Amino acid sequence: MSKTKHHWENVFSSKKENEVSWFQEYPQTSVEFIALFEMPLDSNIIDVGGGDSYFIDALIEKGYSNLFLLDISENAINRAKKRLGQNAKHVTFIISDITDFAPEVKFHFWHDRAAFHFLTDEKQINKYVSIAENAIEKEGYLILGTFSEQGPTQCSGLEIKQYNKASMSDRFEKSFVRIKCIEEDHATPFNTLQNFLFCSFQKK
Ligand SMILES: C[S@@+](CC[C@H](N)C(=O)[O-])C[C@H]1O[C@@H](n2cnc3c(N)ncnc32)[C@H](O)[C@@H]1O
Repeated sequence: MSKTKHHWENVFSSKKENEVSWFQEYPQTSVEFIALFEMPLDSNIIDVGGGDSYFIDALIEKGYSNLFLLDISENAINRAKKRLGQNAKHVTFIISDITDFAPEVKFHFWHDRAAFHFLTDEKQINKYVSIAENAIEKEGYLILGTFSEQGPTQCSGLEIKQYNKASMSDRFEKSFVRIKCIEEDHATPFNTLQNFLFCSFQKK
């Protein structure tokens, strides 16, 4: 098992959902991006490094049914599956390192909150970008949330790469047009703030 997978399997077997800094009861910002782009209900939507977050639940509640949840951690996927119960039928679960992902369908909406920023090695970052470029439909959307330059330098005890509007756009502008970026403070369950950058892009 890779060191990365080991780390995340351990997190999702030892910590409760609200014992991790990234916990959100409701993923308001992510849901607002879906609303902004008026995604049709039959869109293929993937949450990359989605863990056991409530984004999938929020999408099901809105009527989306072609959902994909990818995570490196089987424990995270199992937790999400168990919580979703009957609603799990709307979701294709994929246990994979994102940099090894070979998608079988194209996505209209690709969402990633706090997974991309764990890639600190140039080769891994380029792999992610190229997988996203190939996997997202023409005119489909990519939403990335990472720590900003005002945010922490670590997440879950691991080094992360911070982004600003320009450095994030640089990575994706070959195949995507940037639409909108926002910065926001996430209030952790430990009463601290983490500054995030969220940017949306549309595939050319
Ligand atoms: C900080 S958590 C964020 C979880 C979720 N996106 C959220 O907003 O609550 C990072 C997630 O990314 C997953 N992850 C980390 N590295 C990954 C990789 N290389 N491939 C796939 N998933 C990864 C972890 O297992 C974890 O679920």
